[in-house]
Amino acid sequence: MPDNILYTDLSAYYDLMCADIDYQAQSDTAHRLHQIFGNGGIGHLDLGCGTGPHIRHFIDRGYHCSGLDINQPMLDIAQQRCPEARFSQQDMCMFTVTEPVDVITCFLYSIHYSGDITKLKHCISSAHKALSANGVFCFNAVDKNKINNNSFTSHTATQGSNEFIFSSKWHYCGSGEQQALKLHIQKTTANTTQSWQDEHPMVAISFKELQNLLNPYFEVHIFEHDFQKLIPWNKESGNALFVCVKTAK
Ligand SMILES: C[S@@+](CC[C@H](N)C(=O)[O-])C[C@H]1O[C@@H](n2cnc3c(N)ncnc32)[C@H](O)[C@@H]1O
Repeated sequence: MPDNILYTDLSAYYDLMCADIDYQAQSDTAHRLHQIFGNGGIGHLDLGCGTGPHIRHFIDRGYHCSGLDINQPMLDIAQQRCPEARFSQQDMCMFTVTEPVDVITCFLYSIHYSGDITKLKHCISSAHKALSANGVFCFNAVDKNKINNNSFTSHTATQGSNEFIFSSKWHYCGSGEQQALKLHIQKTTANTTQSWQDEHPMVAISFKELQNLLNPYFEVHIFEHDFQKLIPWNKESGNALFVCVKTAK
């Protein structure tokens, strides 16, 4: 079974899995951060855009949006949700844009899909190159040293006569630059149950290392992972919101 079946064969279930995520709040926060730190421009790009939920909210706020993702089935759903936006199948570690954008977002920890530190560096330099002056790169991340391998989230959802259980957890072995996102999806229809295990290899990094990668390119601001209020990062939390401003360094 392929590693990332969630983004290919099971892409039709992705939005159900994410039904509890407050995409409106995340998009509103990114917009607010762009207003505070950025140049106020309306060109937006979403990396690892998935089915396009953030892009929908940005379009509704008046942005001109584009999205990129490595999996075409996700982009097909995104294009239906956001006919006004331009989508391209690209790797976030080596992407290009036709014209500079003012704000780049990358949510739901998708930046970790860059896979290893070398590719993450390419992702950061690609984002820097794609931004206009004083543009903002906004993403959330998890610190490898704060991952609790015993912690997981789980929720149920119903679609027609199908009952789903989605579970996910991080796993970090304690050394090296690889962590995994482990997903379990169970679908029950009448008396038949199917289940899938997905294990996504992702880059593992500490926030200190991440800041060191970002600093040569950006002025970096870090906030608590709270989409209701902006609170500076307390230097302890393992989840955080990074706001990276392309200044003339
Ligand atoms: C957790 S989902 C997040 C989707 C969306 N940002 C959201 O918040 O719902 C991660 C997305 O990243 C995409 N992805 C994985 N590796 C990628 C890569 N190297 N380049 C671009 N997209 C990638 C997947 O196909 C998937 O759509």
